Amino acid sequence: MPSPVMLTMRGVTRVHGHGAAEVHALRGVDLTVAMGELVAVMGPSGSGKSTLLHLAGGLDSPTSGSVRVGRDDVGALDAQGRARLRRRHVGYVFQDLNLVPALTALENVTLPLELDGVPARRARATGTAALAEVGLDDLADRFPDDMSGGQAQRVAIARALVGPRRLLLADEPTGALDSVTGEAVMRVLRARVDAGASGLLVTHDARHAAWADRIVFLRDGLVVDDTGAAGGPDQLLSEAARP
Ligand SMILES: Nc1ncnc2c1ncn2[C@@H]1O[C@H](COP(=O)(O)OP(=O)(O)O)[C@@H](O)[C@H]1O
Ligand SMILES: [Mg+2]
Repeated sequence: MPSPVMLTMRGVTRVHGHGAAEVHALRGVDLTVAMGELVAVMGPSGSGKSTLLHLAGGLDSPTSGSVRVGRDDVGALDAQGRARLRRRHVGYVFQDLNLVPALTALENVTLPLELDGVPARRARATGTAALAEVGLDDLADRFPDDMSGGQAQRVAIARALVGPRRLLLADEPTGALDSVTGEAVMRVLRARVDAGASGLLVTHDARHAAWADRIVFLRDGLVVDDTGAAGGPDQLLSEAARP
């Protein structure tokens, strides 16, 4: 029996800018991600990977086409509904970490819970568990500026995972990590997905993509390969490596 679908994108386009400055970042993308499925998104720089993740998480709206998360039609939600979806259900690891320097690791992690009205004690317990998942529970009171890049990245990942997120979106989350930490992060993502969440992971690293159930290749705003068949991956990876 096929697993229930968490994310459905149908005919999704996204045009950035206007007139002569128009950029067609996505040109008609169809993509579904099931519960318990981790999908890697690969492709050259500028192919639309980050745009795709923003749309999947309700951070941006498609120019045309539809995006559904669970039963929610993201395009039909008002701003408040989209904000609630992002706070409660979507975990997003950004390419730039977006940690708040004036907050400790634990405070950064519990921020989304507190914004959602979770009582402070429960938020602290949930946040501590998320830090433990990335192996940082002993650094809960440390500020981001007093951490290594890899530690700060793991805090950002803990913040994205905190609470029962059902859709995890990660845009090159292992970029600033050494390979051992990078693998630890993949293990955490994989475990969450195995526990029933859905994941979309943008990565340039074939070793990280190997943790996914499926690889989707983007090129010029279109899905050009949804299986990882021979020819596609190697060619796209070598193109991605070009300056
Ligand atoms: N806010 C924006 N305004 C204008 N153009 C944008 C914006 N965001 C992305 N783009 C353009 O859309 C295309 C896809 O970008 P992006 O989704 O960031 O690709 P990737 O993550 O694969 O590098 C690129 O040509 C990029 O310059
Ligand atoms: Mg990007």
